[in-house]
Amino acid sequence: MTFRIAQISDTHLSAEKPFFVGNFERIGEALRATGPDLVLNSGDISLSGESKESDLSAARALHEAMGLPVRFLPGNHDLGDSQDLAAHGAAVITDERRARYLAHFGPDFWTLDVPGWRLLALNAQLLGSDLAAAVDQEDAIAEATASLGARKLALFLHMPLFDKAADEPAMTGRFVDPAPRRALLARLRTAAPALIASGHIHQYRDSWLDGARHVWAPSTGYVIPDRIQPIYGLKQVGFVEHRLEPDGRQESRLVQVPGMPTLNIADFPEAYGAI
Ligand SMILES: [Fe+2]
Ligand SMILES: [Fe+2]
Repeated sequence: MTFRIAQISDTHLSAEKPFFVGNFERIGEALRATGPDLVLNSGDISLSGESKESDLSAARALHEAMGLPVRFLPGNHDLGDSQDLAAHGAAVITDERRARYLAHFGPDFWTLDVPGWRLLALNAQLLGSDLAAAVDQEDAIAEATASLGARKLALFLHMPLFDKAADEPAMTGRFVDPAPRRALLARLRTAAPALIASGHIHQYRDSWLDGARHVWAPSTGYVIPDRIQPIYGLKQVGFVEHRLEPDGRQESRLVQVPGMPTLNIADFPEAYGAI
């Protein structure tokens, strides 16, 4: 039986600043009509959950209202950015921020077995961090790969691993940084994922490299203007449907919901400040 995942991402939800709630609710209606086996939010669930707990609780409540099976993984706006991005000036992940996230959304890294496949969801912000939980996550990766058996592996994490190549040296804040990326890929060497699905860029892209399919889910809410973010793929809101077959085949596609406007963060200076 096909397992259908609706990957939503970068919902950036808040009750006090509900700029992107309307689009989220439109997506919810579309999802309820098709009834996926799992809704997976790949991070930046909340607008500013790293500093405002009420954004975390509001985002969780909005997901509950959808009435569908849902799982989460954290983005930088939910529990702070990777420690090695501290130079970018954003709040970084701490045990306290992470604990708040866990209280609202459950485990920040997890596995789920479905026919023919194992989903491995990671906390991208823990990669390369000095928190004790980073070691727990590494252990979970080792366990997930060692016991994979004949299943295919689908990796989900907030940030894409890279733009074009696994060895690209740039530290951009857009992709997993080179050192933690190298470490992660080394851990996955014996069980390379067939599918790597991410969010964070607010652009949809579907590409293949070395036998793996890299799918970037767009934001359900908004895009980022070209003058501050290059065009990597498609700047359009929506979600991604992944169909995982028991025999290991797989399909992913962008789904755009009619009547759902592609908002631009430049038009919402109250969200994160003027651009
Ligand atoms: Fe985002
Ligand atoms: Fe993000």
